[in-house]
Amino acid sequence: MRRGRTGPGLILGIESSCDETAASVVRDGHEILSSIVTSQVDRHRVFGGVVPEIACRLHTEAILGVIDAALADAGVRREDLDAVAVTHTPGLVGALLVGLSAAKTLSYLLDIPLIGVDHIQAHLYAATMAERGAPPYPAVGLVVSGGHTAVYDCRGPGRMTRLGKTIDDAAGEAFDKTAAILGLEYPGGPSIEKAARSGRADAIRFPRSDLGPGSLDFSFSGVKTAVLYHCKGRNAGRSAPLKEGICIQDVAASFQEAVVEVLVDRTLAAAERLRANHILLGGGVACNTRLRERLRLGADLAGRVLHLAPPSLCTDNAAMVAGLGYHRLKAGRVSSLRLDAVPTP
Ligand code: KG4
Ligand code: ZN
Repeated sequence: MRRGRTGPGLILGIESSCDETAASVVRDGHEILSSIVTSQVDRHRVFGGVVPEIACRLHTEAILGVIDAALADAGVRREDLDAVAVTHTPGLVGALLVGLSAAKTLSYLLDIPLIGVDHIQAHLYAATMAERGAPPYPAVGLVVSGGHTAVYDCRGPGRMTRLGKTIDDAAGEAFDKTAAILGLEYPGGPSIEKAARSGRADAIRFPRSDLGPGSLDFSFSGVKTAVLYHCKGRNAGRSAPLKEGICIQDVAASFQEAVVEVLVDRTLAAAERLRANHILLGGGVACNTRLRERLRLGADLAGRVLHLAPPSLCTDNAAMVAGLGYHRLKAGRVSSLRLDAVPTP
């Protein structure tokens, strides 16, 4: 590491694992000097989901401009950076490789450490990165995104063991697929949340998955199928029209309630089992107001502290990557230029 600075504090983060190209400069793991996120969502909407080949091409077009913008916004020159951190797992392999190539090039040219970061660990780090108090560990962490739904035993930034995970759809995927059934816009999470605001959460009792005594796993494909049957009939396909009299707002609110209830129950059960005083929530679905409210209420009643990031740090971003990268660097856990993209965790 180069000499002359007071500490290894100024990290450039790069994120390109799915459909957001992002770069950010963070000082000392907490202070976000810039956070640039360009979303490809408008280009994928017409397909109802992320198309990997399109995602790679758009990352390639965006990456250099996004990095330059992050440095300019932070008022930082490349030469001032102490390290570059990059998401290298999990995600779409071609998409990961774009960010990884940019990060390796900067690391080599500037002679600064390269730090490979796990996207899921970064989502949980985001829940606490703005905080300055004592580190909130041990904690139970819930990651809920478009590709992942899992609960973890967290012992420090990036130090976690999985306790349970979804056995089929991720929670965000269930929101996206259910929105498609209802004819609501992609991405489905925000669309369902908006429709649910004028619906009744107790209008329809959709199933809550229970995978046996003590299980901390999740399943969301059943509730999605229950919505399909309720709205279109048992033998109808996904593209069939809605049955007459279906109230989209009531279905959206009742579906949201079923998913949120399971997420909250499992997380509180995990915290109880581990006797963890802290709960961390991260990932795109953590933007959902109903989930935030119900988990807050549940944590309060159980005497536990909930740590929540603002919505801009819940969806994919590079500040969480730079932030976690700082702790890795401090611990001496740097990567070699041979660091590979690992699509599945
Ligand atoms: O973490 P993220 O940005 O990307 C992945 O790593 O997957 O999460 C995206 C997911 C999408 O499935 C989207 O529908 C969901 O997060 N999402 C929401 C909300 N905002 C985004 N789900 C429920 N309620 C929301 N308000
Ligand atoms: Zn994510």
